[in-house]
Amino acid sequence: MEIYSNIAELRSALAKVRQEGRTIAFAPTMGNLHAGHISLMRQAREHADCVVASIFVNRLQFGPNEDFDKYPRTFDADCTQLRDAGVEFLFAPTEIDLYPQPQTYVVEPPEIQFLLEGECRPGHFRGVATVVMKLFQIVQPDVALFGKKDYQQLMVLRNMVSQFMLPIKIVGGETVRADDGLALSSRNGYLSPEERAEAPRLQQTLKNIRQAVLSGNHDYDALCRMASENLDSHGWKTDYISIRRQQDLGPASASDTDLVVVAASKLGTPRLLDNIEI
Ligand code: PAF
Repeated sequence: MEIYSNIAELRSALAKVRQEGRTIAFAPTMGNLHAGHISLMRQAREHADCVVASIFVNRLQFGPNEDFDKYPRTFDADCTQLRDAGVEFLFAPTEIDLYPQPQTYVVEPPEIQFLLEGECRPGHFRGVATVVMKLFQIVQPDVALFGKKDYQQLMVLRNMVSQFMLPIKIVGGETVRADDGLALSSRNGYLSPEERAEAPRLQQTLKNIRQAVLSGNHDYDALCRMASENLDSHGWKTDYISIRRQQDLGPASASDTDLVVVAASKLGTPRLLDNIEI
């Protein structure tokens, strides 16, 4: 695997790939890789001839009281995993490489950036969209992959690519879970052993909501309120549990089909995200 931090050098290496007539799949990450990321890298190989990954902890998408400084940086272990997964090029810029000047031009996503995650993390999706746009300009992939665990992020980026007419196919990778159902996440490492034992309740809660909806319960507000109260009675601090339309993440009504239940809840320090489609 070739590792680049310099943008010009990466661009010239990738120009050669294109000259050879090979297509490029790109999977951006913030490092601290787990099996979910590696599954994206393996999927990437099915979509193109050459796989490029990036590792960059993007300050722009973290709020002032979030874990930017604490975010686990595990570069050497990440490189081993990427190499084993068949990644050919790794882009690992420093902050100065990617933000040589203050980023005053930004990608401002529409209304969707203020819903759900956006309400809890103001500015988060602006930071994500801006860095991903920059990464896309640098790598110019044919295909880009993002995990479905970050459901709203995937939607923001899909819409961005569509509205800016970028010639990039966006692929959503299925969430990879531990045997007990917990969605893999870089932030699971913050869980104490007791919290880790409790954590699968989030996925179980979403499964219960799906079951209730499939059985004909359309009182979505009550379902979500009860689920949230139940989680909180087990030590969680729930930011939201909500049944939404898959197509735009707007609040779902009984006549809507293709739903998704999205949730974010704090268990101790970490804030866990999960979702389930109906
Ligand atoms: O999902 C992530 O890890 C990040 O939000 C991303 C897409 C790499 C942008 O920094």
